[in-house]
Amino acid sequence: MSRDIGLFEAIHSQRAIRYLKPDPVPEEMVLELIKAAVKAPSGGNSQPWKFIVIRDPELKRRIGEYYLRSWNAVYGDAAAGPPLHPRVRASATHLAEGMGAAPVLILACIEHRGGPSAMGRGASIYPAVQNILLAARGLGLGSALTTLHKGFEEEIKALLGIPEGVETAALLPVGFMAEGSRYGPTSRRPVEEVIFRDRWGVSQEAGRDAP
Ligand SMILES: Cc1cc2nc3c(=O)[nH]c(=O)nc-3n(C[C@H](O)[C@H](O)[C@H](O)COP(=O)(O)O)c2cc1C
Repeated sequence: MSRDIGLFEAIHSQRAIRYLKPDPVPEEMVLELIKAAVKAPSGGNSQPWKFIVIRDPELKRRIGEYYLRSWNAVYGDAAAGPPLHPRVRASATHLAEGMGAAPVLILACIEHRGGPSAMGRGASIYPAVQNILLAARGLGLGSALTTLHKGFEEEIKALLGIPEGVETAALLPVGFMAEGSRYGPTSRRPVEEVIFRDRWGVSQEAGRDAP
């Protein structure tokens, strides 16, 4: 199992991989992903996560169906739905149609016991999800952070026996990358556009002239 990849190479090349081979993913690789996940920070080191590794074909099929219904409801009508780059639309459609056929689905869940709100709750699970994505990159696997399954949160919780006080956070298809698929470089807004200095809206460091 190769793990020889630099941290920054992983960060800079990790991306949503939505075209996966059907080949099985060894359990030891899945365990590596979860071992990376549980090293993430969480509020008060509460570690409120659970990761459901789904390999059962029937469960995957049913989750895939919910995901596709959600995809169609949100993005099915290209003119009315949120805008998407045509390449992202094509790959996300491919994933939506094949979610249930991914070799492994990892459903990241957070135990919140009814505690407050979206942002605080998410902050204690999404770093773990990002660790899974980076570890997948390190192992040569493909994955993508998806959330559209949440359109059927209650149905999926019932299907998998997830109790009250637990919320699903992300559904990650995992597999080896299909031929022609590749990691990044990714396209992101440049740092200069998103960094402020000391105050909102101040782009230049104090004492430095604009170029
Ligand atoms: C909060 C969040 C929700 C997302 N939900 C989905 C999703 O439901 N389906 C999907 O295919 N991709 C989903 N993505 C992946 C984004 O589309 C992807 O990160 C973005 O397009 C950048 O892609 P890249 O890393 O390949 O450049 C989600 C990403 C985030 C951060």
